[in-house]
Amino acid sequence: MKNILVTGGAGFIGSNFIQYILDKEDDILLINLDLLTYAGNLENLRDCENDKRYHFVKGDIRDRALVGKLFAQYDFDTVVHFAAESHVDRSITEPEVFLTTNVLGTQVLLDAAKAHWKLDLDNKYARDYRAGVRYLQVSTDEVYGALGKTGMFTETTPLAPNSPYSASKASADLMVRAYHQTFGLPVSITRCSNNYGPYQFPEKLIPLMIHNAEKDKPLPVYGDGMQIRDWLHVKDHCAAIWMVLQAGKAGEVYNIGGNNEKTNLEIVRLILAELGKPESLISYVQDRPGHDRRYAIDNTKITTELGWKPAYTFEQGIHETIAWYQQHRSWLEHIDSGAYEAYYERMYGVAT
Ligand code: NAD
Ligand code: DAU
Repeated sequence: MKNILVTGGAGFIGSNFIQYILDKEDDILLINLDLLTYAGNLENLRDCENDKRYHFVKGDIRDRALVGKLFAQYDFDTVVHFAAESHVDRSITEPEVFLTTNVLGTQVLLDAAKAHWKLDLDNKYARDYRAGVRYLQVSTDEVYGALGKTGMFTETTPLAPNSPYSASKASADLMVRAYHQTFGLPVSITRCSNNYGPYQFPEKLIPLMIHNAEKDKPLPVYGDGMQIRDWLHVKDHCAAIWMVLQAGKAGEVYNIGGNNEKTNLEIVRLILAELGKPESLISYVQDRPGHDRRYAIDNTKITTELGWKPAYTFEQGIHETIAWYQQHRSWLEHIDSGAYEAYYERMYGVAT
């Protein structure tokens, strides 16, 4: 049996990961520690809320006492750390919470993992840990900064983050690396490109554009719309994380991406075409400050060393994703109305 602490499991990728693992593994216990910020939504986990292999804990990764208590109670052998402030635009208007959650929160988890897993905790020179334990940091390609027209990010590309969000993620990665180098903590870092799929909060490009198009509202395209992102279906990201947990070497970084570079305008036009809406809804707005022009992931390491490859083609994945948002209008509407917060109150009897 694996006892896994999943942080941020009520968010977009974390909730998809929990469902992905429950669908494929029987002998597992998943504890989801999530603060339920604006981005956390327990409605994402409706299908598994009565599953005995899953338990939700509302709490903050920055809360040392709580994290230590959970380690003692559940004897985790694995941490999959998704919890973060994840939206670049918000990091431009309120950077501080990105530092406290993304950097300091990561350090709290690293300390707890070290304290619980290290065999001789009092000896600072000792580097032996319980067998089979692993701390996995879910990071992002944004830590590498921006690319020009050519080239791709490899695992050895120097870190050059440009937004407060990506700077906080890069800082967290460096702490994870330091805990491996200094203390020998068995860690993995994954750096994935842009995800799309069900349950993504509608502040991000794809669900926002679907939502606005359906309501015949303007679609705000930053700058010239020619920025490039490398899109991967969220389930392919989840599969890659699981593979790194099974087979990844401790101390290594793995880039994750599916070779699907698209300009933002291509994405927006595709959404409008699928929904049968006019391109006149596109509204060019002022560009994001410090906007990274292009991301592209070189996935050679994870494909050749671990044998991972994406299951979704972009065409299939985006088609299914647009259909999912059309079929789950109430999910989007509950976010619009704030009703998703009331859902927690109904489930657990207290306000978020
Ligand atoms: P999200 O914003 O949808 O979810 C974040 C979750 O973390 C929410 O449920 C929120 O309530 C929770 N959270 C925030 N602060 C917390 C705290 N202090 N304590 C406990 N929980 C807290 O994010 P996402 O898009 O699912 O991203 C998950 C992770 O994957 C992040 O670390 C992000 O940097 C990384 N990532 C995202 C993408 C992407 O395209 N979305 C790509 C690569 C990497
Ligand atoms: O690359 C991985 C990263 O992808 C993750 O680490 C982040 O957590 C995730 O939010 C995402 O970051 P981006 O900034 O690339 O995603 P976002 O959906 O915010 O924007 C995608 C692109 O679309 C980007 O070039 C900005 C543009 N955009 C976005 C919004 C919300 C617009 O043109 N208009 C918009 O309204």
